[in-house]
Amino acid sequence: MTTNIDLQDKANRYLWMQAKGWADMAEMGEPIIIDHATGISVTDIEGNTWLDVNGGYASVNIGYGKKEIADAVMHQMLQLSYYPEQTTTLPNVLLAEKLAELTPGDLTRVWPVSGGSEANEIAIRMARAYHVRRGDKGRYKIISRKGSYHGATFGVAWLGRSQFMGLDEYEPGPPGMIYAAQPNPYNCEFGGKSPAECAALCAKDVENLIIQNQPDTVAAFIGEPITSSLGAVVPGDKYWPLIREICDYYGVVLIDDEVVCGFGRTGKMFGMDHFGITPDIMTFAKGLGSSYIPVGAVIATSQIADAFAGKENIFYAALTAGGHPVSAASALMNINIIQKEGLVDCSAKAGQYFIDCLKDLADRHSIVGDVRGLGLLVALEIDPKVNFTIDDEGLAKWLVRKFKERGLLLRTLSRVIQMSPPLCVTQIEIDLIVEALDSTLTELASYISKG
Ligand SMILES: Cc1ncc(COP(=O)(O)O)c(C=O)c1O
Repeated sequence: MTTNIDLQDKANRYLWMQAKGWADMAEMGEPIIIDHATGISVTDIEGNTWLDVNGGYASVNIGYGKKEIADAVMHQMLQLSYYPEQTTTLPNVLLAEKLAELTPGDLTRVWPVSGGSEANEIAIRMARAYHVRRGDKGRYKIISRKGSYHGATFGVAWLGRSQFMGLDEYEPGPPGMIYAAQPNPYNCEFGGKSPAECAALCAKDVENLIIQNQPDTVAAFIGEPITSSLGAVVPGDKYWPLIREICDYYGVVLIDDEVVCGFGRTGKMFGMDHFGITPDIMTFAKGLGSSYIPVGAVIATSQIADAFAGKENIFYAALTAGGHPVSAASALMNINIIQKEGLVDCSAKAGQYFIDCLKDLADRHSIVGDVRGLGLLVALEIDPKVNFTIDDEGLAKWLVRKFKERGLLLRTLSRVIQMSPPLCVTQIEIDLIVEALDSTLTELASYISKG
C-alpha cells in the first residue's frame, strides 16, 4: 500500500508545486496530500482534517463536495464533451445570458475563458483593440495599482508589479505599464487621514498619471473593487465613482477584475455592486465555478463589443478550453446553487460576524494593526511598527505552522492574514478560526523584540 510518506517523497521528487519549494516541503514533512473535502473541511490521506480558511485560492465559493455540480458535469460530459470549431453549445449560450442578466448596466457580451489570468489577458487585448478599431491608434498603456495581482501569465504578471511575483527575473516586461497608488486607508501613500481622503487622493493619482503619460496613449485602467492581493483593502466610497469619471473624461477603458470579488465573495454578487458604477469590462474566474472545473469569462459593454461588430472586424483570439461545455455546465449549476442557497446574503451576514470577532481580537491584542474587509473577504494585519525576534519571512512561515497545528490551513502574505472561506461557513467554524487566531496571536506576543 502507498503510504503518505511514499507519496510525499514522490511529490517532492516529481511535482513542481505552485509557490512552494520542494526542499522546504521535504524539511517540513510536506506537501499535505488532500484526499477528500466537504463544506469548508478538508482531510488528508492520513485522516487529518483542517478548515480550509481560504477556500482553495479564494475560489471555492459554494464549498466542497456538492453533488449537484458532479451530476451536472457528468450529464454534460455524456451529452457533449466538446464541440467542433466555430460552433457553440447550449450551456455556453445559457451561461452568457446568465452573466449578462446578473451584471450591472449594459455589460452584455461574454467571452468565455478558462481562468482569471486568461480573462485579464483577453480584457487588456480587448481594450487596446477597441481603441484601434475606433481609429484611436496610439493607446496601449495600462494603469494598475501597486501591489495588485491580476494573474501569472506573461502580460498580466506585470500588472501591479506585486513583490510576490519575483518579476526582476523576467525583465523586460511589456511596455506601457503604469502603477498607481493603492487606495488603502490603513496605509495611504499620500497620508490621507480617512477612507474618504485616501480615496480622493488615490483617484487624483490616477488622473495625474494619465496626464503625465499623455492621455491619448492610455488604453485602460484595471483594478479589483476590493484589493484581495493586499488583504481585503476596501477603498473609501467615492474612489470607484471618481475612477469612473476620470476614465470617462480621458477615454480610458475601465476593467473591473472580479476574479476574487465576484459571485458573492464580498457580500454582494459582484464587488463593484458596493460602489454603484458600471465598468466597461468585467473579468471572472474562481467563484464563477467555485473551482470545481476551470472556468472564467470576460464580459464587455455593448459600446466595447460593438467596436468589433460588422464585416471583417472580428476580435482575433481563440482558446481551446474557452467555452468548454462542461465548464459552462458546471458554472451554471454553481450560480444556481449560489442563488438557491442565498449564499450572497450568507456571505454578508457571516462576514459581518467574522469582522466583529476580528475587531474584538484587535482590541485584545495590541500587535494587531488593522482589521478590514467586506463579506467573506477579510484580513487582519499585524502592526508593521511592531518588531519581532523573527524577520517577516520567518514570521509568515511561523504563522502558517501554528495555524496548521491549530486546525487551520491558512497562508499569510507577509504580515497580512487574509481569509476567504467558502460562503457556506458556519458561525461555529468562524468561532474555531477566531479561537485559533487568538491563541496564535497570544503566542506571537512572546516574540516581540524588546530591543
Ligand atoms: C484578483 C485576481 N485576478 C486574477 C487572478 C488570476 O486567476 P487564475 O489564477 O485563475 O489565472 C487571480 C488569482 O489569484 C486574482 O487573485
